[in-house]
Amino acid sequence: MALGGQHVAPSPWSRSAKDPEAWLTRRLARRVAEGAPTAPDGLPGGPASHPVAQMLAFLFMLGPFLEESRVRFGSRLTLRMPGLPPLVQFSDPAAVKAIFADDGEGMHAGEANDVLRPFLGTYSVLVLDGPRHRAQRRLLLPPFRGSRMRAYGEAMRDISVAAVERWPCGETVVTQRLMQDITLDIILRTVFGMEDGADQDRMRGLLVSGLRILDNPLFLIRGFQKDWGPRSPWGRFLRLRAQTHREMDALIARRRREGTGEDILSILLGATHEDGSPMSDEEIRDELLTLLVAGHETTATGLSWALHRFSIHPEHLRRAQDELAEAFGNGPVEPGTALPFLDAFARETLRIHPVIGGVGRKLQRPTTIAGVALPKGVMVGCPIYLVHFDPTRWPSPERFDPERFLEKSPAPYSYFPFGGGIRRCIGEAFALYEMRIALAVILQRLEPIAVTRRVRTQRRNITLTPAGGLPLKWRARG
Ligand code: HEM
Repeated sequence: MALGGQHVAPSPWSRSAKDPEAWLTRRLARRVAEGAPTAPDGLPGGPASHPVAQMLAFLFMLGPFLEESRVRFGSRLTLRMPGLPPLVQFSDPAAVKAIFADDGEGMHAGEANDVLRPFLGTYSVLVLDGPRHRAQRRLLLPPFRGSRMRAYGEAMRDISVAAVERWPCGETVVTQRLMQDITLDIILRTVFGMEDGADQDRMRGLLVSGLRILDNPLFLIRGFQKDWGPRSPWGRFLRLRAQTHREMDALIARRRREGTGEDILSILLGATHEDGSPMSDEEIRDELLTLLVAGHETTATGLSWALHRFSIHPEHLRRAQDELAEAFGNGPVEPGTALPFLDAFARETLRIHPVIGGVGRKLQRPTTIAGVALPKGVMVGCPIYLVHFDPTRWPSPERFDPERFLEKSPAPYSYFPFGGGIRRCIGEAFALYEMRIALAVILQRLEPIAVTRRVRTQRRNITLTPAGGLPLKWRARG
C-alpha cells in the first residue's frame, strides 16, 4: 500500500483485506461507533511501544507509523516520546476545527515549535505565542498578501529560466537540489532584496552550509543540539550561524543607509509596531531567517514531488503542456496568468505528498476538544498526513487525481497542507505562486523522465522529501 508516497507493505491489520480501502473505512466507522480506547491516564489510547521506539518511528517512518496507529486506535490517539509531553493526534474534522479555532491563548504553537528556536532566533514568529506572536505576525502579513504576488512574479520567472538553462539533458540529476537552488535564489531576491554578485554568493554559501547541517532530523531532539567543538555538526552549525548573523546585520545596516526597494526586507524596514516604534535589527534578522527556513526547503520539496508526479503521469504532463501552449504559445511565462490545471496539480501534489506531516499546539489550560477532556500541558496535533489519506473524506486517497481540485473546494478541515487558524502559513500564496511559475517555466522547456517509479518519503528535519533527492532525467522539448 502506498501511503503519501511511502511505499510500504500493507499493515498487518489490513494484509488480509481484499479491498484495504473499504476495510479501513469500515474499521474507522466501527472505531467511531465503539468509542476510542482510553489509556490509564485518561488520554486517548495509543501505541504501547517504548517511547524511544515511538520517537524513532515518528522521525523516520511517519506515514506507516501514523497509519497503523489510526487503524488500531481510530482518529484520536496518543503518542508518547521521551522528554516530551504526551502528543494527542486528532484527525477528525470536528477536532481539527476546534484546534484551528483557538485564538492563541488556550493553545501555543510557538511552544510546540520551541525546538526550532536555535535555528530561527528568539523573535521568530514561529516560536512566539500570545501577544508577541500576534505583533510579529501583524508585521509579516502585508508583504505576503495575494495582491503583492505580482511584484515577486518576474523575479520568480527570471530565476527559474536562468536555472533551467543550466540543467543538462539526458543525465541523472538530483531534482531536490535543483529546486533548492531555485527557491533559495527566489528568497534571496524577493525577501532579502539581494541581486547577483559577491554579497549574494557569500550569503548563499553560508545559508546553504547551515541548512544542509540541519537536514538531519536528529537535531529536532534537544539532546542532539550539543556543541562538541568546531568539528561536531552542531558546533559547526553554531559557528556558521554566528557568521550568518554578522552578514545579515551588515545587510540590514546597509539597507537602512542606502534606502529600500520592492522586496520584503524593505517592507519590514518601514513597518512599525502598534506603538509606532520600528522593528529592531534583531527582529528583522530573525524574521528573515524564519522566512528562509520556512519557505525554502518546503517549496523546493513541493516542486520536487510535483515533478515526480509529472514524470509518472504522462496524461497529466500533456494536459499541463497544452494549458501552457494555450496561455503563452512560445512566449515567456507571464506571472499572473491563470493556469487552473497546473494549480490543481500542485494542490493535489501537496495532498498526496504533504511537505509538513502535521501541526502541533501545547495546551495552556484544561481543554475539551470535540468531546475529549485533556489536561493542561498536553500537546495536541493535527496530522496533515492522516487527514489527507482519510478514505472517508478522499475517495481512493492513494489515487493521484488533480480533478479533485478543479472547480471544487475540499470539504472543510479535510485539506490543510499549510496548517490553519491563527498560525496558518504566512507564505501560502507565495509558495503556490512560486510553484505555478517555476513549474510553468520548467515544463515549457523540459520533460521530466522518471528514473524510478517508486519513490520513498524521507524526513529532512521538519519536511517530508523524496528519498535520495528524487533522481530524474530531463528531455528537451521540441
Ligand atoms: C509548499 C510550501 C509550504 C508549505 C507546505 C508550508 C507549510 C506550513 C505549515 C504546515 C505551517 C504551520 C501552520 C500551523 O501551525 O498551523 C507553516 C507556517 C509558516 N510558514 Fe509555511 N509552508 C510553505 C511555504 C512557506 C513560504 C514560501 C514561506 C515564506 C516565505 C512560509 C512561511 C511560514 C511562516 C512564517 C510560518 C509561521 C506562521 C505562524 O506561526 O504564525 N511558508 N507553513
